[in-house]
This record gives sequence, structure tokens and C-alpha cells, in this order.
Amino acid sequence: MNKKKKLDTFFKPKSIAVVGASKDSRKIGHAALKNILISDYQCNLYPINPHEEKILGIKCYQKIAQVPEKVDLVLVSVPAKIVPQIMKECVEADVKNAIIISSGFSEAGKEQLEEKIKKIIKKSNMRVLGPNTMGYKNASDSLDASFVYGVPRKGNLSLISQSGALGVGMIHLANNEYVGVSKIIGVGNKIDIDDDDLIDYFSKDSTTDVIGLYIEAVKNGREFMNSIKRCHKPVLVVKSGRSKSGARATASHTGSMAGSDKIYSSAIKQAGGIRCRDIVEMFDMARALSGQPSMQGNRVGIISNGGGQGVLLTDACEANGLTIPKLSKKTYKKIDKIIPDLVKPNNPVDLVADAGFYRYETCTKALLEDPNIDGIIVASVHGGNARPREFTGAILRMIRERKLHQTHKKPILATWVGGREFSDLVLDLKAAGVPIYPSSWRTARSMLALYKEGRRKERENKEK
Ligand code: COA
Repeated sequence: MNKKKKLDTFFKPKSIAVVGASKDSRKIGHAALKNILISDYQCNLYPINPHEEKILGIKCYQKIAQVPEKVDLVLVSVPAKIVPQIMKECVEADVKNAIIISSGFSEAGKEQLEEKIKKIIKKSNMRVLGPNTMGYKNASDSLDASFVYGVPRKGNLSLISQSGALGVGMIHLANNEYVGVSKIIGVGNKIDIDDDDLIDYFSKDSTTDVIGLYIEAVKNGREFMNSIKRCHKPVLVVKSGRSKSGARATASHTGSMAGSDKIYSSAIKQAGGIRCRDIVEMFDMARALSGQPSMQGNRVGIISNGGGQGVLLTDACEANGLTIPKLSKKTYKKIDKIIPDLVKPNNPVDLVADAGFYRYETCTKALLEDPNIDGIIVASVHGGNARPREFTGAILRMIRERKLHQTHKKPILATWVGGREFSDLVLDLKAAGVPIYPSSWRTARSMLALYKEGRRKERENKEK
């Protein structure tokens, strides 16, 4: 097997066949064929089923060998016991890539069946995803090569999931959180295409800016860590099985060993990846990383209209290794002019409860220009006389229209404390790509990701 073979025809196939395509709308082979058919994607599509003439109006073939061209990608959805025979036929027909959707292999204690497939594909050039996988959704090219429901919003996060169900959940969560996705792929039992192949591919993929993984175990630790090390983009890793019971659950879910959590943590850190506590944190960090410049240093400027929220953000930042420095004299003067006399412009800056557009905008600009500050958090607390609409207006103007943060190479993150009156405004900000979070901790963790990305880039530049 040629491990170096690229995945271009895998993600952008000109021809696709579905082995086990069915007229029965309850079957996975039906859903897989339909998902490709309704994708806004140009390719030749071939259902394979020995008993049918046509499925979903498309001419059906009995075997892959009868298809009138060499096929770039085959999706396999037949019972596990006949998968080895199908793979043999695919190799003989010179198929370039295959996705084995079928379950019933090592995850079900049937290692021998999996070994049989490995042997069959070993001497071929074919790349194989799975078995036991949902397939993938390539949102940037509008191709759905999976059997699962859900259309991701287009964006620049590419996701790799060892769990199929969680992968599907991530699509919906990403949509809900307005996090755009380039590609999402379920790796299943990883008999060939592995996490490291995908990290390498996404590192060069022009539509991917951030990579996120959910893993339970890796098969080849060294390859995995090296792929993170050579990746030119931030890699976010959710690794489960941290606890003893979690490790036991991993073994019964994917049949793999969770391994020592401490070793994983330090290896991911050393390789330059960012370990996330859970999926929500991964999306939080992805939202920050995908639109904001990384931090040049670890010094954060905090702006709030509520003293308490400023203190909470300070604590959360410091707990994550970020610092809250004093403002420069110039900044102090600029802010002192615009805030009420009852407060003094310290960091965190208290703009006082009734802060409106002007105070938020002027203060954020002043911190962007302050050489003591590397990143800014802007908070709004929905107190009695607060003006949430003006807060969101100022954030949008700073982040979207003026792009000042990019000129100054400093990220701006937002956070709020409030209820329903805030919900629509927050949705507007999320839809506009603004990184906004409902807690001081989540905001600080996302700022930390931007700091780590800054360090990764610095190392990369030094090595050039
Ligand atoms: N070539 C092509 N098609 C063939 C075939 C062959 N050699 N042999 C049988 N088929 C056809 C069947 O006739 C059937 O079509 P039909 O509905 O027209 O009769 C179709 O392939 C599917 O076979 P069937 O026996 O009905 O299986 P199924 O659809 O009930 O189940 C799987 C097949 C793969 C879906 C099932 O075994 C499985 O693994 N399910 C779990 C998959 C999963 O969840 N994976 C991802 C985890 S994240």
C-alpha cells in the first residue's frame, strides 16, 4: 500500500459508486446514495446492487467491474462478512479510494475480518477509510459522502472524529454555534486512512484554517504527533478516556486503549497542538482562531461595564497563564477622558453600567493602540441601565468594518452576562463571525488558544 498517495481524489472524486445501494429508504445504502445525489456536486454516480436495474432513477450495475470507467471513490454498505469480497473486486477494478461504512469488525471483536481486508488492500494503491465510519462531508465542495443527516455551514474548520455519532452531533452543534465547517470526517477503525494522513491533508487544504479532532486512541503515536508538529495550522484535540472509567468506556466503544492521559497531554503540547476539555471548548477556540489574529504575547486588556465581570475575567485569564498588565500612560489619559469621574482607568477597565457605543469603541481602540496589550476582551453586563445594542454595535464595528484588530495584530473577544434581551444580539454577532462567549472562563480559554497559536507560529517562523 502506498501510504504517500494523496487524498485529492478521495475528497474531490470525479466518479463515485455505492456498493449496497438500495431502493429501501430505511437502509444505509439508500441514504448514502441519496446524500451524494442531492449534493450540489458534479460527478458520475453509480449504484451497485445485483438485484436492481435502477435506483433513485440512476442506472444500476451488478458489480464494480461493470462500471464503464475507473472509479475514484466507492462507498461500501453491505454486511461485514461480504466486505472482503467487495474490497477484492475494488482492488481488481483499480478503484482509487473506498469508504467502508459497514460495522462488525474489530470494534465488535471481529479482528480477523479486519485483518483480511488489510491483507487485500496492502498491495494496492487504494486508500481506505473505516471500516465502521459515517464517511465524510466536504462542505467546501458541497459533497456529502456520508449516510448521515445534516448539512454543515461552510467555513474553515475541518473536523476529524473517531466517533460517528459524536461526529454527527458536532455538525449540528457547529451549525447552532455558527461555526463554519470545511470538512468533517469519521475515521472509524482506521485500517488505512488515519488521523495523521488527514492532518497532513488539511494542513495544505486551502479551505481549512483550523483543524479539530475527537480521538479516543491513536494507532501510531509518533506519526500522529509528527503530523501535528509539521502542520501549518492550529490543531485542537479533544482526547477522551482521561479517567479510569473513561478509559474503560473507550475500550468498549471503539475497542482501543485510551493510554496514559499525562503522556497524551504532554505529547500534544510538545507537538504544538492545543488540548481542549470538550467539544464545546473546541468550537469556542475554533471560533476565535478562525477569524482573529493570534496573540503576540500573553498580556490581556479587559473592558467591561460591570466591575464584577472584570474581576472574574481577570481571575480566569490568570488561571490560564495570561497576564493583566497596567495600561500605558497614553492609554490611561485617553480612557480617563471618556469614563465617568467615579472610576479610574485601570486594567480591567470599568466603563460603568450605562456605557454606550462611544465609550466601548473609544476604549477598545485605545487598548488596540497600547503597546502593553496583546489581546482584548470586551464584556457587557446587562445591568439596569446597560445598553446591549450599543455594545454589540461597537464590537461589530471594531471587528468587522474597521478590521482594526488586524492592523494591530491583536485579537478581540467578547463576552456577556444577561438573558433573553441579549440572545438575538449575540446570535447576530455569532453569525457575523464575532467570537462571543457566555462565560468568563470560556472567553479566557479561547484567548489562551490565541496565545498558544501565536507561540506555534513563532516557533514555525524560527525554524524556517
Ligand atoms: N454488491 C452490491 N450490493 C449487494 C451485494 C453485493 N455483492 N450483496 C448484497 N447487496 C445489497 C443487498 O441486496 C441490499 O440491497 P436491497 O435492499 O436491494 O436488498 C444492500 O446491498 C444492503 O445489504 P443488506 O443485507 O440489506 O444490509 P443492510 O443494508 O441491512 O445493512 C450495513 C448493511 C452495512 C448498513 C450494516 O451491516 C451495518 O454495518 N450497519 C451499521 C453501519 C454503521 O452504523 N456504520 C457507521 C458507524 S459510525
